[in-house]
Amino acid sequence: MHAPIFAPSLLAGNHAHLSEAIERIERAGPDWVHIDIMDGHFVPNLSFGPETVRALRKTSDLFFDVHLMLDNPQKYVQNFAEAGADLISIHVEPDYAVTDTLKRIRRLGCKSGIAFNPSTPVSAVEPFLDQVDLALAMTVQPGFGGQAFKTDVLNKVRELVGLRKASGLSFRIEADGGVDRQTIPLCRSAGVDTFVAGTSFFQAAQPRDLIALATG
Ligand code: DX5
Ligand code: ZN
Repeated sequence: MHAPIFAPSLLAGNHAHLSEAIERIERAGPDWVHIDIMDGHFVPNLSFGPETVRALRKTSDLFFDVHLMLDNPQKYVQNFAEAGADLISIHVEPDYAVTDTLKRIRRLGCKSGIAFNPSTPVSAVEPFLDQVDLALAMTVQPGFGGQAFKTDVLNKVRELVGLRKASGLSFRIEADGGVDRQTIPLCRSAGVDTFVAGTSFFQAAQPRDLIALATG
């Protein structure tokens, strides 16, 4: 349905030299970079803010795939859109007006995504699938890079593929967390078309080979 996309995650890059991390992604070939935003509440960690996105926007034409791990994403979507996000994903778990926020993301000129944690059932995101460009399946508990891939989430990916087909929708399906040489083939066969990889990308001796596993 979609040409596969590989989106390296900036979280695993060198935070003292983020523009170099972006250059490394550009040299390896991907068109997307995944940028994780954490608030210390929805997840027990902090990462980047809108000013980071704005500064990087000046240095790069990559597609900015911004993943908000926030309790109150509705308060910040405008900041990230104005800072240069191309796609903004928000989580389904916190208590806020999800549909309104997805609409705002599109009105701000961005593509929209709905993200869900490994323990969240697909039924929680199903009501929003007709409002998004991408469904983001967390394949680790969000908050940190370098964790082990949760294989059981692939059943949810298969469920999403089924729902997409049954409903005639065309959202992308993104896997995020623990995506590496071993798990890319599993993701592919389950129906993932958008691969986020932090640790495995930045540690790869031959990142192009890793990317080819997903996109070749
Ligand atoms: C985790 C983040 C991921 C993270 C993935 O909360 O959403 O995007 O960067 O890192 P790896 O690929 O190292 O699991
Ligand atoms: Zn992410």
